[in-house]
Amino acid sequence: MAEHEIKYKFPAGFLWGTATSAHQIEGGNENNWTEWERKQGKIKDGSISGRACNSYELYKEDIKLAKELNNNAYRFGIEWSRIEPQRGKFDKNELRHYQKVIAECRRNRLEPFVTLYHWTQPLWFAKMGGWLNKQSPLMFRSYIEQVVRFFGSSVTFWCTLNEPMIYAYNSYWLGKWTPQEKSFFKFKKVIKNLIAAHKLAYFVLHERNSRCQVSIAKNNQCFEPYLDTWLNIMAVNFIRNYWNHSFLNKIKNELDYIGLNYYFHNLLYVSLQGYVQMNENKIISDMGWEIYPRGIYEVLKELQEYRLPIYILENGLADARDEKRADLIREHLRYAHQAITEGVDVRGYCHWSLMDNFEWADGYEPKFGLHEVDFKTFKRTARPSAKIYSEICKNNGV
Ligand code: FCB
Repeated sequence: MAEHEIKYKFPAGFLWGTATSAHQIEGGNENNWTEWERKQGKIKDGSISGRACNSYELYKEDIKLAKELNNNAYRFGIEWSRIEPQRGKFDKNELRHYQKVIAECRRNRLEPFVTLYHWTQPLWFAKMGGWLNKQSPLMFRSYIEQVVRFFGSSVTFWCTLNEPMIYAYNSYWLGKWTPQEKSFFKFKKVIKNLIAAHKLAYFVLHERNSRCQVSIAKNNQCFEPYLDTWLNIMAVNFIRNYWNHSFLNKIKNELDYIGLNYYFHNLLYVSLQGYVQMNENKIISDMGWEIYPRGIYEVLKELQEYRLPIYILENGLADARDEKRADLIREHLRYAHQAITEGVDVRGYCHWSLMDNFEWADGYEPKFGLHEVDFKTFKRTARPSAKIYSEICKNNGV
């Protein structure tokens, strides 16, 4: 593409990447999710994560795919249950494995963004009550200490927790995900322990490498009132503050950047009876999620108040036919660019996901990948949108 065709040029040094998580791509894990998946009726399409994308073995191939996208960053997760399969017993081979993954990223000039906790727990941890246990932040800290000792100096960007609110909301508020303990009280307790866990991890990570950059991946959403009434506006402000900011405010002194995962828009009609979603749903993904690119602009503007660099760590959609993915990328980037021109310090974008993978309780049916995966042969095939994304990354602009 000729230079003059680039309408939205991103700042020099902008990081372009894709995101994955350990449990969703590695295969062969034994954790609280694997245990839960095996129970009848938990996963929508009846699947289990099983061998997933077999990325545990094929990580070099995956990193090559990322390289071919002209990326200069890669967000992936390390699996706590592999590293600490029994309490206090750390598996050096597994630590070495992730060390190799990081080295492979570096060889390919991909800046690694390493997620330490992406919802899955070692079985022993889950049996002890998981994040309900008062000691859970300390248990998390011991895991981080080992990780840091092993390859702490080779990583700059850490993401301690992936979407802590989404996890706590689904598992404890709605009681949908493992351990399916529906209780608002438990939800609050889990959040409290996750906050403490992040803070401890922050200090451990910095002790080793004072220049490292630590954050969480925060799922923030665009909330808008359907009506201009006082009640509607106040209620939506309250919900927005709670969902988007309560967690961040508690850890704002232990954040070096903000990791943002953006997927959702909520146009809310609030009355004394409760609230109803009034989204127009003009464009939806295969999962029925509304595609609302302007929302990323709103969410980014809101994050400006923290005065920290922002990296978009996830944004994407389930789109098996690859009809909407390229537009989704372009449109979200256009709005992110607008936020940048208005002074928001956005420094990177990772698309979810590099390839199709195990989408939690929805199983293998949703196709989030820039690459299609054949789950029998593990062959990866680039979808047409991958080409478009790779051009964007090459040109550092849309
Ligand atoms: C996010 C999760 C990620 C993936 C996408 C679709 O909430 O962090 O693992 O499932 O949604």
